[in-house]
Amino acid sequence: MAIEIIGTGKAVPHKKVSNDDLAARIDTSDEWIRSHTGIGYRYIADESDACSNLACEAAKNALAMAAGYSGADSTQRDRAAVGIAETIDVIILATVTADYYGTPSTACIVQDRIGAHGAAAMDINAACTGFIYGLETAAGLLNISPHRKRALVIGAEVLSKVINWNDRATCVLFGDGAGAAVIEKTDADKTGLLMSLLFADGSGNESLVMRRGGTRNPFKKGEVIDAGICIEMNGQEVYNFAVKAITSTIDSLMKAGNIKIDDIDRIVPHQANARIVQAASKRLGIPLEKFYLNIEEYANTSSATIPIALDEMNRSGFLKKGDLILTVGFGGGLTYGGNIIYW
Ligand code: UT7
Repeated sequence: MAIEIIGTGKAVPHKKVSNDDLAARIDTSDEWIRSHTGIGYRYIADESDACSNLACEAAKNALAMAAGYSGADSTQRDRAAVGIAETIDVIILATVTADYYGTPSTACIVQDRIGAHGAAAMDINAACTGFIYGLETAAGLLNISPHRKRALVIGAEVLSKVINWNDRATCVLFGDGAGAAVIEKTDADKTGLLMSLLFADGSGNESLVMRRGGTRNPFKKGEVIDAGICIEMNGQEVYNFAVKAITSTIDSLMKAGNIKIDDIDRIVPHQANARIVQAASKRLGIPLEKFYLNIEEYANTSSATIPIALDEMNRSGFLKKGDLILTVGFGGGLTYGGNIIYW
């Protein structure tokens, strides 16, 4: 029995914003952003776009691919996606920027819009580790019941709406986007999701936080909200945590899966800062070329970075059947973890 990835998809908004565009509005520069993070651009959602819009687009692309259509014609794509959407049993949507606080979940909105009428649907919040957690959660739900065969796992974020655009220390780091994967339970052997390791260290919960709007600090009627609704981050603390988390997770995955460096075809890390990946590569003695990096193009899209990368690699033919891939992520919570996947 295996859990195979049978389709991937991504979606980003139309508006592409360069570092120079930001430097025209705040006190920063292309040189600082590139040298400190590796970021060159990010995609920013329109005022009318919510998390579910990007999630649905990525989901339809993944569903269409699972149904055998990978082309660019949107009518054909939609037709292919609708047919297979009916067969999805579970939708897991990882996000920290849901359409609504609390209820309804964004997963339920997606379920309705893509026509996955038979699917259970729920959101999960594991911040930037969300897709890794989501894959394992969905696989667990498929494995535990003989009645479930297929799941849709989505990481989707509209971070631009929860960023303080006057805080140069955070606003240059993030972008909007979504990635998705359709997974299927099959009788095949040694393929697909082999195992996952999931971790959390809640003692670091204050390092990356959106303070207002929950039951700890609710909005009050008549109050003018001008602070606390945006992402606050202790960059240095998160940086140190991230290097340790990525290093220890890769090490633990290799031990748990009995994998040597030479066995790994590609590591797909959460794209938060190229320097974090470079530091981990050095500490582990794993060549940097084994790590897939696309942060230059998209910046940090939180739960979406890994599925966006997987889709890029998949569609470009970069991934070959049987390739051994490690994903590794870290983020708010604090959470971290990784998956071992035979493509
Ligand atoms: O997915 C969520 C996980 N998040 C992360 O993984 C983020 C982890 N943290 C980081 O990636 C890094 O800590 C940052 C990229 C956020 C910051 O890099 P840094 O090398 O740690 O910079 P810093 O915070 O130590 O700031 C150095 C200087 C400061 O100026 P002074 O005090 O030395 O004069 C900052 O004010 O850089 C300044 N600075 C900027 N300058 C130009 C901070 N942001 C900017 C900016 N443009 N955007």
